[in-house]
Amino acid sequence: MSRESAAPQTPKPYHYQRTKPSSRNKSSTRSVLQYNRKPQLAGETPRVVVITSGKGGVGKTTTTANVGLSLARHGFSVVAIDADVGLRNLDLLLGLENRVNYTVIEVLNGDCRLDQALVRDKRWSNFELLCISKPRSKLPIGFGGKALVWLVDALKDRQEGCPDFILIDCPAGIDAGFITAITPANEAVLVTTPDITSLRDADRVTGLLECDGIKDIKMIVNRVRTDLIRGEDMMSVLDVQEMLGLALLGVIPEDSEVIRSTNRGFPLVLNKPPTLAGLAFEQAAWRLVEQDSMQAVMVEEEPKKRGFFSFFGG
Ligand SMILES: Nc1ncnc2c1ncn2[C@@H]1O[C@H](COP(=O)(O)OP(=O)(O)O)[C@@H](O)[C@H]1O
Ligand SMILES: [Mg+2]
Repeated sequence: MSRESAAPQTPKPYHYQRTKPSSRNKSSTRSVLQYNRKPQLAGETPRVVVITSGKGGVGKTTTTANVGLSLARHGFSVVAIDADVGLRNLDLLLGLENRVNYTVIEVLNGDCRLDQALVRDKRWSNFELLCISKPRSKLPIGFGGKALVWLVDALKDRQEGCPDFILIDCPAGIDAGFITAITPANEAVLVTTPDITSLRDADRVTGLLECDGIKDIKMIVNRVRTDLIRGEDMMSVLDVQEMLGLALLGVIPEDSEVIRSTNRGFPLVLNKPPTLAGLAFEQAAWRLVEQDSMQAVMVEEEPKKRGFFSFFGG
C-alpha cells in the first residue's frame, strides 16, 4: 500500500459535530464511546501507525500500550513494535517483560523466526508485542528504515494473516532512531503535552513527517489538567490545536492511575471500572479506527466558555 493512497488528500483539524441545544444530553461518555457497536475499520490493512512526539516523556509508550489494547479489545489484530531501542519500556507497561526472549535483531541475524520474537498478550491474544532489541543494547551498524520496512512486509505475509494495525512506538528525538521508526509508517499519531517545549518539538516533528511523505497526522494531547486551564495556567486544547493545526485524535487528562497502571504492567484501558484517562484512550482508539468516516457523536458545548472538556463533564 502506498503512502499516498493511505493518506487523506487534505489533513484537516478535527471538528466536533455540534448538536442543537435541545438535543444536547448530559454529555454522556457512554454515548460517545458507543459500546454497543464495533468500530468500522477505515483504510487498507495493515494500518502502519507511528506514535511519535519529538520530546521524551510525553506519553508515547503509554499511548501505544493503551490504544493498542483498546484496538485489540475491539477485535482488531494488533502488532505493537517497540522501536525505542536503547530505552525500550513498552514491554514493562504491558507486563510482558518476562516473556520477551527474542528481538527483531535476532530475527534479522537469522537466530530465530519472526513468530518466536512476537510476544502474544495472554489477556488479548490478538495483541502481539515485538521489540527491536534488548534493553541498553546498541543498534547494529546498518540497521535502519529498510529493516523496519522488511519487518512490516514480513508481518503482512504471515500465515496467521496480515494484522489490522501495526503500531510503532517511536524513540524521542529526531535522529536516526526516529527516522528508522517512521520509515515504514503511512500514518502518525503525534503525542504532545500542552506546554511550549513539547509543542515546539511536535511542530518540528510534524514538518519532518510531512517531508517523509506521511500526510495523515493526528494528535493526542496528553496530561491535560482542567484546573490549570481554568486558571489560565495551561494552554487549552483548542490553543494547541490552533498552534499545530492537526486533526485531534484524543485528549487525555492527567491521571494518577496512569502511573499506577504503568508500574503494575496493566494498561489503564483494562481497568474496571475505567478511569477518565482510560476512557479517553478508548475514544482515541475509536477515532483511529474510523478515521474521517467516524460517525460517533461528539458534543462540543460552547467551546469558548466551557472548552473541550465539556465532554469529560468538566
Ligand atoms: N495522562 C497521564 N497522566 C499521568 N501520568 C502520565 C500520563 N501519561 C503519561 N504519564 C506518565 O509519564 C511518564 C512518561 O510516559 P511515557 O509513555 O513513558 O512517555 P514517552 O514514551 O513519550 O517517553 C510515565 O511515567 C507515565 O506513567
Ligand atoms: Mg517511550
